[in-house]
Amino acid sequence: MITLSGVSVTYPGGATALHPTTLSLSAGQFVVLLGPSGAGKSTLLRTLNGLVRPTAGRVELDGLGALDCPRRLREHRKRTATIFQQHQLIGHISVLSNVMLGRLGYHSTWRSLLPLPRRDHLISLECLEKVGLADRALDRADALSGGQQQRVGLARALAQHPGLVLADEPVASLDPATARRALLLLHDICKGEGITAVVSLHQVDLARQFADRVIGISAGRVVFDGPPRELTEVELRRLYEHAAPSVRQPPGAAAFSLPPTTAEVRA
Ligand SMILES: Nc1ncnc2c1ncn2[C@@H]1O[C@H](COP(=O)(O)OP(=O)(O)O)[C@@H](O)[C@H]1O
Ligand SMILES: [Mg+2]
Repeated sequence: MITLSGVSVTYPGGATALHPTTLSLSAGQFVVLLGPSGAGKSTLLRTLNGLVRPTAGRVELDGLGALDCPRRLREHRKRTATIFQQHQLIGHISVLSNVMLGRLGYHSTWRSLLPLPRRDHLISLECLEKVGLADRALDRADALSGGQQQRVGLARALAQHPGLVLADEPVASLDPATARRALLLLHDICKGEGITAVVSLHQVDLARQFADRVIGISAGRVVFDGPPRELTEVELRRLYEHAAPSVRQPPGAAAFSLPPTTAEVRA
């Protein structure tokens, strides 16, 4: 559904965050990006929604063509939802109003200044229902727990009716059990609705559990690309060898290979 051909990114300061990269994402895949901090995961995600323009190479979408003009970029962004680590909710407005922000791409700028149509309310409520938070629709967003706020972020993404979801360390600020539940929800909804997902994570065990495909990035290069069962300890060592000491975790450390308990997954 989306192809990068020789895409590289060098930031204005001169740092090359992504060396020439060629890869294709298939529709409906749940892809996990792994790699140490500074490897280029966020940069890759930002090139996928056009927030970062490649210094070289091109990004192409099936049915839309190359992302090289404002009209195609707008069209692509409308159907591409982004989920952030800090969920970026507006705390002092209601949960429902936050989810409705996902609908703005379907309206012109002037129209979005007015109250949105009833249909947008209904879609947003439906999305809150999917993440189990319909009963909190009228609460202020900042009254919810971190895990619940992340689910509101997911509902806002779903309200966009996306074909592609990009999630940049969406569970990094959650405790392990909440993180697993949040990722299970994201995974199951994407699979159920045929949404392609690209999710960056630091937890190798979660990648193993949920990914159809793992893309490992180290120092701006793809050093692993395959199903999680091929992600051996040797591959992991290679992936994390350029990590700073504070983030490097030796293969075999808990974050790498603790299998989840069934109770934890279903809790
Ligand atoms: N806006 C930016 N301007 C300049 N350099 C940046 C910018 N964003 C990221 N970088 C640099 O690009 C490299 C990759 O960063 P990033 O994509 O954020 O990696 P990751 O998400 O894997 O931690 C790092 O060296 C980082 O310092
Ligand atoms: Mg990042």
